[in-house]
Amino acid sequence: MEGSIQTLKYRAEEILEAMTLDEKLGMIHGNELFKTKGIPRLGIPPLVMSDGPMGVRAEFHPTKWITVGNTDDYVSYLPCNSAVAATWNRNLASRTGSVLGSEARGRRKDVILAPGINLKRSPLCGRNFEYFSEDPYLTSELATEYVKGVQRWDVAACLKHFALNHQETARLEVDEEIDDEVLRGLYLQVYKDVIDNANPYSIMVAYNKVNGEYCSQSKYLLNDILRKEWGYEGFVVSDWGAVHDTVEAAEADIDCEMSVTDDFDNYKFAEPLKEKILSGEVDEALIDKKVIRILILMLRLNMLDEDVMIRKDAAYNSFAARQDCLDIARGSVVLLKNEDSVLPLGRYNIKSKRILMIGENANRIHSNGGGSAEIKALYEISPLMGLSSRIGGAAEVTYLRGYASTLVENATPNGTNWQALSLEDGGGKTAEAEECENSVDEISPDAENGERVWKNISQYRKYLREEALAAVDDYDYVIFVGGLNHDIDSEGIDRRNIDLPYEQNELLEALLYKRPDTIVAMIGGGAVDMTRWLDKCKALIWMYYNGMEGGNALAEVILGDINPCGHLPETFYCKAEDSSALSVGDFGDEKLVHYREGFHIGYRHIYKEKIPVQFPFGYGISYSEFEIADPSYNTGRHAVRGKLLNKSGEDGAEIIQVYRLPDDIHDYLELVGFDKVYLRANSEIEFEVTVRDTIGVGKYAVGFNSADLIEI
Ligand code: BGC
Repeated sequence: MEGSIQTLKYRAEEILEAMTLDEKLGMIHGNELFKTKGIPRLGIPPLVMSDGPMGVRAEFHPTKWITVGNTDDYVSYLPCNSAVAATWNRNLASRTGSVLGSEARGRRKDVILAPGINLKRSPLCGRNFEYFSEDPYLTSELATEYVKGVQRWDVAACLKHFALNHQETARLEVDEEIDDEVLRGLYLQVYKDVIDNANPYSIMVAYNKVNGEYCSQSKYLLNDILRKEWGYEGFVVSDWGAVHDTVEAAEADIDCEMSVTDDFDNYKFAEPLKEKILSGEVDEALIDKKVIRILILMLRLNMLDEDVMIRKDAAYNSFAARQDCLDIARGSVVLLKNEDSVLPLGRYNIKSKRILMIGENANRIHSNGGGSAEIKALYEISPLMGLSSRIGGAAEVTYLRGYASTLVENATPNGTNWQALSLEDGGGKTAEAEECENSVDEISPDAENGERVWKNISQYRKYLREEALAAVDDYDYVIFVGGLNHDIDSEGIDRRNIDLPYEQNELLEALLYKRPDTIVAMIGGGAVDMTRWLDKCKALIWMYYNGMEGGNALAEVILGDINPCGHLPETFYCKAEDSSALSVGDFGDEKLVHYREGFHIGYRHIYKEKIPVQFPFGYGISYSEFEIADPSYNTGRHAVRGKLLNKSGEDGAEIIQVYRLPDDIHDYLELVGFDKVYLRANSEIEFEVTVRDTIGVGKYAVGFNSADLIEI
């Protein structure tokens, strides 16, 4: 029931009157790992939450971090938010949200803990794959549609992590020191835009501190900015274990405390808060405010009384959801290089041919990793499966591992759930620890059978490399699939650098020397350094963790069944230190991080300092050839107009990007408009891209990426 907020408030106040103090307290803290307490005598159900951005997470035991293990919680596995951002397509963002919302509703969840809308300030943040982009406008535009998509199903979306949760290193206590103007004008503005445009019903408060105060008890962030200035009336929940002080959090405008431990009565908002209220130290009226906001949420979701009859029904694992996953995955594949038209292979050309796929990521499942974003996927099409299942009858597809992250292929995570220990170690180990583990002497499982014995992983990698290199001449086509995985792109871990791991560089250098026509496909959550072999590589495809249909989308691009149209939502730096976070500001400190770079993050810094990159923000090519003609700025319509020409024989889609050039008011390049346009072969169309409101009128430029622009 989405009545006026005042009507909802009156109704909530009436319900509140009948409640005892214990009942109120039960509603404002976890009583299970993902659930609060309901009040059956008043017909109030518990509030049920679940992660996360790539699908609805598996069902957990109420008090332990073990999954229940039934067969009814396999779900659609969606492309990660970076993949959604690579589509630059509002409609696909809306479909992502809608699948997530309907599956959450189907799984009987009330709040889905997504989307993550922190900006990719540093390329090293382990959770970057969960975030959309380094750009605030691209993020807020897509997150807006995503949130509306979720909430269409009477499920609350939850913007996270408010605010500045940009690193995983020491995430539970690190202090992010930032100038107020930058805090508000850049990072908080993304939240404000999504709140204004999509009315997300909930927000999650981050673990870290901002300017010395824990976000979870920051009166500045929560009471002053979020509630008073922005008038936000939604539900504010802590990240799991982010609340530290009973009185301060009670006084801050946070409504619910969740955590990872099972001593629910000891949560700050449980017995400790009751004592403070009974002793008069905390005013019960503060608790009432929180309960009222939770009741408003429940009313909005039609969870109370006879409203339940009109609450939306929804299903999970529908065929339609799988089609959505495929369409989103298709839209997000980014073609980065295609010299000599190596791609696409073309179905006719591969008939009766031999194709060799090399690289662990061709055969690896990613859905089960990443931290709280892990998914129990109904299925996940790997690149090997995608290609083989499409052309198995026509061509022979052979797989060789080529490089290895571990000695065991497709190792499943071990028994202990990282989240149970997350308050002690921040939720994971460092990438450094991971790397060391891999380099200690290990014995292959084959050793006992008297077969191969590897002294260490490097020796094993050398073997795999040589095996692959020896084979390549026997094949008509060679496709390499590598990159990162969720041992590296993960909650609780930051990357130490953007190096390509597992000796993939050594393999690729040799491979491209022998077979310069090798098609290289990279999978990951953010940039990897490819400079050692980039100029030798003719065909390069980038794909973020791309959901259950990711392998199919990749195969379709390689074969030419579809024309790729994704563009990078972030800068692919040559090295991490080229980013402003690591050069002007700092990143990864355990105590204090300075945002000295101010507004100049991502491509803004690159443009100003003229730093060479591997690929600029917004970059992506296709099998078509597009051109912009006669661009002009129309003041009345506040839009950039022009002609888009497809000068090739291939139907395709292009993303028209409008940037405001630096001037005296803003001294940085800024994305202010974009649209995806589909265009038939050898044709042209008039376009009009609306420019977002910026302070004052600027000078604009238009193009297909941030580095190659036509000034207007
Ligand atoms: C993560 C959140 C997640 C929560 C619940 C925390 O570790 O930071 O993003 O929603 O756990 O699983």
